[in-house]
Amino acid sequence: MIRSVVRGFGAALPKRVMTNKEMESRVDTSDEWIVQRTGIRQRYIAGEGETTASLGEGAARAALQRAGLTPDDLDLIIVATSTPDNTFPATAVNIQNRLGMRHGAAFDLQAVCSGFVYAVATADAYIRGGLASRALVIGAETFSRILDWSDRTTCVLFGDGAGALILEAANGEGTNADRGVLTAQLRSDGVHGDKLYVDGGPSTTGTVGHLRMEGREVFKHAVGMITDVIEAAFEATGTTADDVDWLVPHQANRRIIDGSARKLGIPLEKVVVTVDQHGNTSAASIPLALDTAAADGRIKRGDLVMLEAMGGGFTWGSVLLRW
Ligand code: ACO
Repeated sequence: MIRSVVRGFGAALPKRVMTNKEMESRVDTSDEWIVQRTGIRQRYIAGEGETTASLGEGAARAALQRAGLTPDDLDLIIVATSTPDNTFPATAVNIQNRLGMRHGAAFDLQAVCSGFVYAVATADAYIRGGLASRALVIGAETFSRILDWSDRTTCVLFGDGAGALILEAANGEGTNADRGVLTAQLRSDGVHGDKLYVDGGPSTTGTVGHLRMEGREVFKHAVGMITDVIEAAFEATGTTADDVDWLVPHQANRRIIDGSARKLGIPLEKVVVTVDQHGNTSAASIPLALDTAAADGRIKRGDLVMLEAMGGGFTWGSVLLRW
């Protein structure tokens, strides 16, 4: 049985850090409010010349180097992003060009904060279906560019960055002992489209628009949706919360992360949290967290790792993989 196995990981962050203290000088907020409601202490903000594609390229190069591979070894690039450099061509093709790669296929995938989970699921389907043998999966965002910097209810929450995984085809036995993606569970429901959205677009206003969110409404649905798709992954694989070595959640809000882990019975020592450092980087948050915990030696080869996310759409999903 073909499995999609992690071969490399990498990340890239903008140079500039913006602390909560600096936020206080922009909008009527406080470090105390932000930390207490979200767990966020700082975020990275893209400066001149830093874009979704340049950050994605940085994450891609780090992942290739760690894997001991070159762009010649890839045949697929998927970029999960809601903040592309241009409406088209796709940021994935831009990154393909930056890497000097002239073969294979590259495309963007848009599922907002669930984008990375959707992209891993898509790459896994391409690999298992024989359409690709080695995929570069990137989550990259510059949400700072679609924020309304006068709206304190949203601008304090988000940050910029990129992370990447390289997935490659490997033979498995078809059991949970296999390395690689064991299951992916994806969901969406457009009835919630007005709770978290951008108020512009090429086909409506002809502008990029700004992020708008009913935070309390998003919060209300988050824990239930997240735990549903994680339980679906347990059911699909016959695993339980006790089997999970690491929960790597989308990093939106510390209270959502803790609430989900508690409901599932996963101890907080097994949860990777980077929201304090990165803020909510949407599709980039999971690969940034994976990079942090794999680089510092927490996530080791053979560990069972649960990824989960929920975001605009709403979209939500989980991926269970053995590292
Ligand atoms: N600083 C100070 N006060 C603030 C701020 C701020 N930055 N923002 C809002 N407030 C005030 C509000 O005006 C309100 O004041 P009022 O009571 O006088 O009206 C008060 O704080 C409480 O506001 P709430 O919105 O009820 O605060 P809540 O506890 O719900 O926290 C938050 C807000 C953090 C946004 C929370 O609702 C949340 O985390 N929601 C989920 C958001 C999320 O995860 N989004 C990402 C999804 S992923 C994606 O796809 C992008």
